Amino acid sequence: MSDAMTSTSTSVRTMTDPQPLPVLAVQDFDVLIVGTGAAGLSLALSLPSHVRIGVLAKAQLTEASTYYAQGGVAAVLDKTDSIENHVDDTLIAGAGICHADAVRFTVEHGHDAVKFLLDQGVRFTLDEAEQLHLTREGGHSHRRIIHAADATGMAISTTLVQRAKERSNITILEGRIAIDVITLAKLGISGPNRAVGLYALNQQTDQVETLRAPFIALACGGASKAYLYTSNPDIATGDGIAMAWRSGCRVANMEFNQFHPTCLYHPMARSFLITEAMRGEGAYLRLPDGERFMKRFDDREELAPRDIVARAIDFEMKRLGVRHVWLDITHQPADFIKGHFPMLYERLLELGIDITREMIPVVPAAHYTCGGVMVDSHSQTDIAGLYAIGETSFTGLHGANRMASNSLLECFVYGMSAAQHITAQLNQTAARPILPIWDASQVQHPDEDVVILQNWDELRHFMWNYVGIVRSTKRLERALNRIQMLKKEIEEYYAGYQISKNLIELRNLVQVSEMIVRCALERKESRGLHCTIDYPELSAQARDTVLTPPDFLASSPLILQ
Ligand code: FAD
Ligand code: SIN
Repeated sequence: MSDAMTSTSTSVRTMTDPQPLPVLAVQDFDVLIVGTGAAGLSLALSLPSHVRIGVLAKAQLTEASTYYAQGGVAAVLDKTDSIENHVDDTLIAGAGICHADAVRFTVEHGHDAVKFLLDQGVRFTLDEAEQLHLTREGGHSHRRIIHAADATGMAISTTLVQRAKERSNITILEGRIAIDVITLAKLGISGPNRAVGLYALNQQTDQVETLRAPFIALACGGASKAYLYTSNPDIATGDGIAMAWRSGCRVANMEFNQFHPTCLYHPMARSFLITEAMRGEGAYLRLPDGERFMKRFDDREELAPRDIVARAIDFEMKRLGVRHVWLDITHQPADFIKGHFPMLYERLLELGIDITREMIPVVPAAHYTCGGVMVDSHSQTDIAGLYAIGETSFTGLHGANRMASNSLLECFVYGMSAAQHITAQLNQTAARPILPIWDASQVQHPDEDVVILQNWDELRHFMWNYVGIVRSTKRLERALNRIQMLKKEIEEYYAGYQISKNLIELRNLVQVSEMIVRCALERKESRGLHCTIDYPELSAQARDTVLTPPDFLASSPLILQ
């Protein structure tokens, strides 16, 4: 790192510390990627091998939603299927506000995504003819989901992580939590804005590192940890969305939080998903009296899009005052069940449920963030050099409701597209300005971690109760008031105390929760995943809810269409 530069007199944040910390050298890269899920690693592995890449993960490398995916990746591979069918199904599930160009772009690149995965060595389940086995999920008119039994994410994640470790041009920065993106505008440098670096907390040393690169990609996953009950791992705290927003990027459609209909209801298993592929392979939803209730809600019954199934379950649970409904696959032969769902069979058996003979207690839980940072088809945000990929981004693909297994596809397609865009610009001289180091000289050590935990708990409770599956204006306004108070408290805490992972995540979650509520209040209709008792009808006008940060025009020369 010959051109590493360390400090200027500018300070980013001040703290008091009894021992002056050693000044850390700025670390230089060509591309910095925040996230080691499907999105981040498909970008990293699609860039040329001479590019110096830094990849950050705030936890272990595989600790990401990608690892926990069960169902699979949607792509048109069956002879009876077509691009048009996949496009149409996605548009229907998206309830009228998918961007048709983004849908077509994604679906048309399905083959490239599958080829990328096979080239990396991901082993998918094959059928008797040694072809990729295709399963079905809600909203899909055809079998089109490739999968690795019922642990697809594990197969993808472990393979991609392994490939990244083998590449000498990729430096893996594990245990680093990105705090904020550094832009020229934030540095007070006039002229066209662009992203130039990152601050990240090294959780081993407790020091904030300064990382510099002309291209930065936020592939941080979604924000479902804003809710009390979720299928997501703990990393899903909306960091990428909050960082992009604070950099001056627009964010859209945050009201569309997808609740997966079937998470396990069990005291010993938090956040455990029962894949929709089980309904795809014939499982029924039943009430305590055994009734298959979905036919009362939709002709597609158990395979209706997720918003419809989750709302039906929520309605029945409230109507009957029960804590869960049942998922029943016992009518299928035991060998079929064990063959298709080996991981679920074993895991549930450990919890005392033999799914070949017994029904599974299930409830809806927050699962996917359909909105996110606005990007174009190269995953570029409003700010030059700053990309957002995967669940962090808003490409327009999902509309008001993501169709199952389209999100992993989106990660690969847009990860590869970002790689092409960055590669085409690599030879241009990009800004590598002197970056100020993080000033930790004026703040105190935190004395009350309990404040962070209490606020975190409170946020997730009221988001679940007030901003959940069915909403009302009054409840949303209540949530917004609570968020304003928490935000003030957290900002004071952030300014005065030493930074920690919990504090960074809570600050981001509160900011993203505010975006969710503001978008929900702006949408005066019920569409897809957003259902409010005050506006139960579908509006004649279908449009996105776009939030623009206060410093948008000052900081953003690129305006997306
Ligand atoms: P993730 O895979 O969540 O990765 C996020 C990465 O960002 C992690 O490495 C994390 O450490 C890192 N990170 C976050 N913030 C920071 C920070 N501040 N600093 C440093 N690093 C950070 N979709 C499908 O298409 N098919 C399925 O079958 C499917 N099943 C699912 C099952 C479950 C249980 C869940 C939770 C989701 C499922 N989804 C599925 C959705 C899909 O898995 C996710 O949308 C997708 O994996 C997101 O990938 P990503 O790369 O965007 O984010
Ligand atoms: C599942 O397996 O049910 C999850 C699929 C998805 O979220 O796309």
